[in-house]
Amino acid sequence: MAKLEILEFPDNRLRTVAKPVNAFDSALGQLVDDMIETMYFAQGIGLAATQVNVHKRLLVLDVSEKQDQPRVYINPELTESEGTETCEEGCLSVPGIYAEVSRAERIRVSAQDRDGNLFEEELDGMHAICLQHEIDHLNGKLFVDYLSPLKRRMVTKKLEKQRKTAGQKNSRALL
Ligand code: NI
Repeated sequence: MAKLEILEFPDNRLRTVAKPVNAFDSALGQLVDDMIETMYFAQGIGLAATQVNVHKRLLVLDVSEKQDQPRVYINPELTESEGTETCEEGCLSVPGIYAEVSRAERIRVSAQDRDGNLFEEELDGMHAICLQHEIDHLNGKLFVDYLSPLKRRMVTKKLEKQRKTAGQKNSRALL
């Protein structure tokens, strides 16, 4: 397994719209394993392929308390959504920045597993929020896009400053 480099905002490669996965081969399995390792190493609870500069529709997440239940969603599609929930989100690609984002409270998702088998799930809570955040990544969208232009400029400035004084860590949920 190998740890992958995570792209950081405002890197334009994060704006790429990912393409569907067609080949469920050993290379895909390796990518999934590497993404899970990278997510755990970075102490995130979700990671989309876009963030590691692979522009395929796949994401991993683990919202379990002990971080021992990794989940893989390949070619995920939201088929239903209802309600609204607001949560403070962070992102491995936007380090040190947290902001409230409103998303659907309950969703239904269809996806494929690493062998290509189709499955469907109904999700709520952090699992639903994380999945919506990661699917946004696959569409080239970041959680800071939901903020006002003024707030987004503040985020960009804060990130520049942070990079100059690197090494700060934060313990909230990173998706
Ligand atoms: Ni993210």
